[in-house]
Amino acid sequence: MINWDDLKHIHVIRKLQQIIGQWFYAEVFFLDERGNVRNYDPYDRQREFKNPLCANLLPKEAGRDWIMNYFRETSDRFSQDKENHMMANGPLGFDKVFISKIELEGEYLGSVVAYCYIENTVPKQDIESVVKKITEKGMDPELFEQAVQKMKALSPSEVKYFFELVELVAQEITTFHTEISKREARIHALSNQLENRYSYDQMIGKSKPMQELYSVLDKIASSEATVLVQGDNGTGKELIARSIHFNSPRKNASFVTVNCSAFNENLLDSELFGHVKGSFTGAIKDKKGLFEAAHNGTLFLDEIGDMTLTMQVKLLRVLQQGTLIPVGGTEERKVEVRVIAATNKDLKAMIEEGTFREDLYYRINVINIQVPCLRDRKEDIPVLVDHFLLKSCKEKEVPLKQITSRAMEKIFDYQWPGNIRELENEMERLVVLSGTEQKVGPELLSPRIRDAVASSGSGGKSMNFKYAGKLRDAMEELEKTMIKEGLRRTKWNKSKLAKELGISRAGLIMKVEKYGLDKRKLREAELAAAAGGNAGNGGDVA
Ligand SMILES: Nc1ncnc2c1ncn2[C@@H]1O[C@H](COP(=O)(O)OP(=O)(O)OP(=O)(O)O)[C@@H](O)[C@H]1O
Ligand SMILES: [Mg+2]
Repeated sequence: MINWDDLKHIHVIRKLQQIIGQWFYAEVFFLDERGNVRNYDPYDRQREFKNPLCANLLPKEAGRDWIMNYFRETSDRFSQDKENHMMANGPLGFDKVFISKIELEGEYLGSVVAYCYIENTVPKQDIESVVKKITEKGMDPELFEQAVQKMKALSPSEVKYFFELVELVAQEITTFHTEISKREARIHALSNQLENRYSYDQMIGKSKPMQELYSVLDKIASSEATVLVQGDNGTGKELIARSIHFNSPRKNASFVTVNCSAFNENLLDSELFGHVKGSFTGAIKDKKGLFEAAHNGTLFLDEIGDMTLTMQVKLLRVLQQGTLIPVGGTEERKVEVRVIAATNKDLKAMIEEGTFREDLYYRINVINIQVPCLRDRKEDIPVLVDHFLLKSCKEKEVPLKQITSRAMEKIFDYQWPGNIRELENEMERLVVLSGTEQKVGPELLSPRIRDAVASSGSGGKSMNFKYAGKLRDAMEELEKTMIKEGLRRTKWNKSKLAKELGISRAGLIMKVEKYGLDKRKLREAELAAAAGGNAGNGGDVA
């Protein structure tokens, strides 16, 4: 669809309209695909017409109907026509119009009509018959005749030039529209990239693993399935569980949390399922369990890997049957609860060891969410640092602190075994320790972080960085390692890798060549290294 309103801002189009008006006394109208005029407002009394007939007819309803109906009919006829331009007799008979199509990839989007010109050969009786009609329609014949006098009669060569200019207007509109569509496609692509969200509910992070996590959360928002959230300490498992509940259809019912490692077996039993009065010493009255408290809502079973086998059996029964029997009770009670479980333990290994029931595992692991460690998404560190500094400074009502780049380097190098929680605590600590200082340097960092040495992000093989020597060499080494690992990861898909690395495909190919990383050379180098020979141009191929 053409954005007709925008056309009035296009300089070339305006200029062409002006020329056509001044030289040929013709008005240029834009008609949409249904033949409605898009650049004429009948209530705009300010508009001056260069064309004397328009000036005479358009301000009056009868004259306006005449012209507008004519436009609609002509455009109807014209849209069916093979030709992309046409000249025709106007509504009055002696007036002539030139009309040019606006087409994009064969699609008819409307037309440009120039109204009107007369040829210098027009017979007098043609005009006289129109004057009669004008009078019948209640318009002033004298004024009309004056208007006709003012018209410029065009010679054949002028007519030709006139047509060219009108066609040019149609072409400019097509070009403008194509540009706009391209720009829109670009904006669309960009906004898709921008959809890389920086946060999701309370969760912060813009890295790829977090984007993947957000999209899983989006997908399961309307589901009622049981979820198992797995991840290291402090990675945000509880935050995720909350987010799942508060985005689910159960959001208005309770979200109940129970930490399975915080109770011994008997206590957990009564905590989860409740008990009846007198069922054990201290059970002085009936008590509802957390399952019942979470009725119609969500129960978050944190540290589920710490549940004893006996409790696992009980839990499985509730999940399968939807009923429970309180401690010391005899009657079954019905509960309707969604369960989200979390653990930092390797449940699969526990199944092998016989400490976690396989049937329970499959019952809770309907949807599995693996939360990435902070060291695997270090690109999130700056946003997280900002977030926690801001939070802590606000809480303590102190002006916002800033981490120096040297301190930031240390923060990057550290492996963060305690993940987000550890980072959060460290930022809080820095806000306190820095007192009235606005800038926070490395000396204030906890010793373990201050003394951190860089190692590869994957936590596995070291990248063999030399801390002495030329920065340029180090950069090249990093570049080479990133490309080499990227090539393997993307299975030598250079377009994909170039996109990931933010360089052009040609740029990547040059670098692959420079570092001798093409598939064949790499394989040769690996074979040579395995045979104990010289690795050749591959260098430290791992
Ligand atoms: N992506 C994140 N963005 C911002 N804050 C986060 C994020 N992930 C976790 N946090 C914060 O880090 C702290 C730890 O998160 P949470 O308690 O959810 O982790 P956990 O995985 O349950 O930890 P644990 O294994 O120790 O139980 C919380 O204060 C939480 O608000
Ligand atoms: Mg937790």
